Amino acid sequence: MQIVYHGHSAVQLITSGKSLIIDPFLSGNEHAVTKPEDVQVQAVLLTHAHQDHILDAAPIAKANDAPVVANFELAAYMSWQGVQTIPMNLGGTVDLGFAQAKMVPAIHTSGIIDNDNQTIIYGGIAAGYIVRAEGLTVLHVGDTALFSDMKLIGEQENIDVAFIPIGDHFTMGPDEALQAAEWYRAKLVVPVHYNTFQPIRQDAEAFVQKLEARGIAGKVMAPGDKLDISK
Ligand code: NI
Ligand code: MN
Repeated sequence: MQIVYHGHSAVQLITSGKSLIIDPFLSGNEHAVTKPEDVQVQAVLLTHAHQDHILDAAPIAKANDAPVVANFELAAYMSWQGVQTIPMNLGGTVDLGFAQAKMVPAIHTSGIIDNDNQTIIYGGIAAGYIVRAEGLTVLHVGDTALFSDMKLIGEQENIDVAFIPIGDHFTMGPDEALQAAEWYRAKLVVPVHYNTFQPIRQDAEAFVQKLEARGIAGKVMAPGDKLDISK
């Protein structure tokens, strides 16, 4: 399996010639090196409804004739943008054919800000995904605070790579992300959701050094970086 990090929380998985992208936020991220029109995928997965996770979802889904996988309410909202959807909810798994995606809890909000109507649209609740393919397990934590059921997820799953937010301000910060990394027991931890905007500036290399001091492998990925993993 090949994993491409596109910056912020945007993570693409490529397996057996098929691909999915989680939380595509490219056109709004000055650090991204990939354009939405260059993304080729069979599915788009969304953890929650905030702009920095869904901004390029509809254009990518339409261009690729790919479904958007999201919680029930966000899927309804995305269907109004004219895309195919696979609505799901926490605890459930959907089979995409080339990969399976389970929706797992996160503690965060998920509203859609409609500036024109000065309305906030309910976007369901926030989540993360466990994606399985080729016998490998990849966790995308989504945006979240620290919560103790991360330990349960770590006990139930054999996670090969975990993408964990460290930005603070809108999610947990590096110190709590260290605790999360211990609880998830992932073989490799990649920090995400930092440095995109001023309030979430963090030193990812320092975070990885602290991980390694605790015996956990970590890797800083820059936008566009690729990672190959296998059994
Ligand atoms: Ni968010
Ligand atoms: Mn976010």
